[in-house]
Amino acid sequence: MASFHLRDILLGVASAATQIEGGDTNNSWYDWYCQGKIKDGSSPLRATDHIRLWPEDFDRMRDMGVRTYRMSVEWSRIEPEKGRFDDAALEQYRAMLQRLNDLGIRPLLTLHHFTNPLWFEQMGAFEHPDSTSLFLRYAATVVRALGDLVSDFITINEPNVYAVQGYLYGLWPPGRKSLAATLRVMARLAECHIRAYTLIHQVHKGMGRTDTQVGFAHHMRIFAPLNPKNPWHRICARGVSSLFQDLLAQAALGGRFRFPLPKPKAIQSGAYYDFLGINYYTRSSVRGFADHVRPGVPVNDLGWEIWPEGLVACARSLYKAFPAPVYITENGTCDTEDAFRCRYIYEHLAAIAASDLPVKRYYHWCFCDNFEWLEGESARFGLVHIDFATQQRTIKRSGRFYAALIGQNGCDDALYEAFVADQAYPTRARLDANRKAPGTERIC
Ligand code: BGC
Repeated sequence: MASFHLRDILLGVASAATQIEGGDTNNSWYDWYCQGKIKDGSSPLRATDHIRLWPEDFDRMRDMGVRTYRMSVEWSRIEPEKGRFDDAALEQYRAMLQRLNDLGIRPLLTLHHFTNPLWFEQMGAFEHPDSTSLFLRYAATVVRALGDLVSDFITINEPNVYAVQGYLYGLWPPGRKSLAATLRVMARLAECHIRAYTLIHQVHKGMGRTDTQVGFAHHMRIFAPLNPKNPWHRICARGVSSLFQDLLAQAALGGRFRFPLPKPKAIQSGAYYDFLGINYYTRSSVRGFADHVRPGVPVNDLGWEIWPEGLVACARSLYKAFPAPVYITENGTCDTEDAFRCRYIYEHLAAIAASDLPVKRYYHWCFCDNFEWLEGESARFGLVHIDFATQQRTIKRSGRFYAALIGQNGCDDALYEAFVADQAYPTRARLDANRKAPGTERIC
């Protein structure tokens, strides 16, 4: 049976400001580019020029039938210098949100998606004792300025990925390699989420709104023992899962900070979520504290295992501890040729349809190809192809499939035959042969 029906779920697309807007030199990722850190040498200064082309992009979303759009605002545009807020930047975001509302596309607004203003980065970002109050001042300014146009917020995107990539592996700004700093930053981001959760509700209430929904986007994976029969691998898989995602969820959603996460002052345990935001991409196979991919499994162009069952397994484990509507705030794959994306979408949504979980939204990552952080422009995740030189947009086959899926609120046999039946995933072995690369990846 190829068909499935999605009950009561809004289908949408996701993006992040730095990855699409272009034109901003005042943020930590432009600085990272200037330090020569982007693998293919591309710059977030170009990206998809969405800062100018957003009306066209929104029209295309409408044409595809997109019901909800997850976007972020860029802190470095809104507060270009410490304490100076830019009305023109806020006006620009107002115009975007207004247009989405006019088109009937429900916005979900992220306040922080990996990037910091330079002044904030230079003072030590979330390691600095003042960072919580500075983040909250920025959050309050955004909600006061835009809160009449949007009810749904994500405070922070993937605190674990931000902390691990930037402070443990040193691959992202600020390029540190310290476990203690990683844990401090993760705890600080959990605290920022909790305080922003309360603040957004307060500010919104003061504006007369009662429909506020706040959460954070949690990057979750399945961590499986590389060899399930090996007790050491099993211990490591549990340990990595706990350090990378479980402790953070307990802290940010429940206000319970457990060792080794440092506990911030005056945080009570509670329920700091209106929905569970989950970004799901892959399963990691663990041996020691390194991340591996099993030989022969299906993988995407970056070598990440494709394992659709994991999406529901992650959602179930979080939901068990924190029962609330589930929003899949990101799910998608790097597929340069758009050769297997339809199958990826199909299998992940089919898994959701077959589950009994209250999944209320699904945001495909991402709407169009964009600036993929360390990978630059080379890693393509979009439903819409971007020619970065000309900024020409062209809907991909997977974009047409997703639009049809939204139209049907599911997939019937004819749609499956037209878009999915002929697609197969690459395998790790094939990717290794092409790349001549070893089979070990790091977390994230
Ligand atoms: C991030 C996105 C990123 C995507 C694909 C997620 O971890 O939130 O910004 O582009 O993964 O790597």
